[in-house]
Amino acid sequence: MINMKIASVVGARPNFIKLSPLFKELNKEFEQLIIHTGQHYDYEMDKIFFDELKIPAPDYHLGVGSGTHGYQIGEIVKKTEEVLIKEKPELVIVYGDTNSTLGGALASCKLGIRTAHVEAGLRCFDRRMPEEINRILTDHSSDILFCPTSLAVRNLKKEGITQNVFKVGDVMVDGIKENLKIAEKKSDILSRLRLKPKSYILATLHRAENTDTLNRLTGILQAFENIPNLVFVCHPRTKKILEKNEFLAKLSEKIIVTPPVGYFDMLILERNAEKILTDSGGVQKEAYLLSVPCITLRERTEWVETVKAGWNILVGADKSLILDGVKNFQPPSKRINIFQGGASKKILRILKTIY
Ligand code: UD1
Ligand code: UDP
Repeated sequence: MINMKIASVVGARPNFIKLSPLFKELNKEFEQLIIHTGQHYDYEMDKIFFDELKIPAPDYHLGVGSGTHGYQIGEIVKKTEEVLIKEKPELVIVYGDTNSTLGGALASCKLGIRTAHVEAGLRCFDRRMPEEINRILTDHSSDILFCPTSLAVRNLKKEGITQNVFKVGDVMVDGIKENLKIAEKKSDILSRLRLKPKSYILATLHRAENTDTLNRLTGILQAFENIPNLVFVCHPRTKKILEKNEFLAKLSEKIIVTPPVGYFDMLILERNAEKILTDSGGVQKEAYLLSVPCITLRERTEWVETVKAGWNILVGADKSLILDGVKNFQPPSKRINIFQGGASKKILRILKTIY
């Protein structure tokens, strides 16, 4: 064991999924602490991942909850700072591109604590996306940058970040490898929803630019209504907006709409889908890793390699482009290896060298 403390700051669903494999690996050598900001709080957006992935209960829960970006990030910085002053970790790790990621990084770097960013260097070059701002600011506040791909390393170089940048592969590859076999045994989602493998299209939708812009939302929903055998796993943000506009009841008559599912159920739904429709970052990547064609409901993506490889197309919120993609999109038979595994082990090795 190395005598030093590492604190991970997490708060949203994708943060928990990225934390899981790395936490287990780092536990072999370091004392660790989990700080949960409370950004996500419904059972199926939060605790289900700690239960399924056997992540220990957070040492601190900041209870920040929902709100505007300024409120959320401000509260996260303030409350994380209090914990960091008390606990004095030598290193803070943040994951991905959520408000919890940025809030954690700001609190840490302002106290002069070394900060590491897992999934550094991703860019979609659309600054209207809150996640793009979070990525840029987190990368520029961090001291150690763990990049999933060579492109991410190049993106950082273009912004002048070259020190302590490491291409380690993608932590989610380890997560999928470890959990797919367990998911196959444990998940009964296909029978619960009466689905046959490769006979349905899976959809997720939650990006602010899609849910909060009425004409985009309408374009996407009109497409959804016209897709036979669509399974829509609905994020609470989207559910609230659909309920407000009375879209949800109409939609539920035509397609299967389910609340968010746990990671095991999600992996099984993804793997057995004929195609995936999504605006999620993580789901685009998982579609590629699970060899499922992906139709992305955005104009730009940070996972451009999946598009270049021919397994992901960007259709935005245009009804006819979405329907055309569902009907006609066929990726090439060859699939190159974009996302390398073993990231958690590499990160452990690098941290052992640094410390
Ligand atoms: C956040 C991330 C996004 C990520 C997504 C993963 C930011 C800026 N965005 O978006 O990058 O892809 O998480 O899922 O950090 N809500 C609930 N229950 C919950 C959580 C949220 O009902 O447990 C509802 C609330 O109405 C809330 C809304 O969802 O206002 C949005 O939640 P928020 O955490 O602000 O952002 P997400 O859209 O979840
Ligand atoms: N996910 C899940 N249940 C769901 C929807 C998504 O377990 O109902 C998982 C998904 O498999 C992926 C991650 O959540 O690992 C992606 O998170 P999300 O789409 O919320 O955020 P993003 O990746 O866009 O930031």
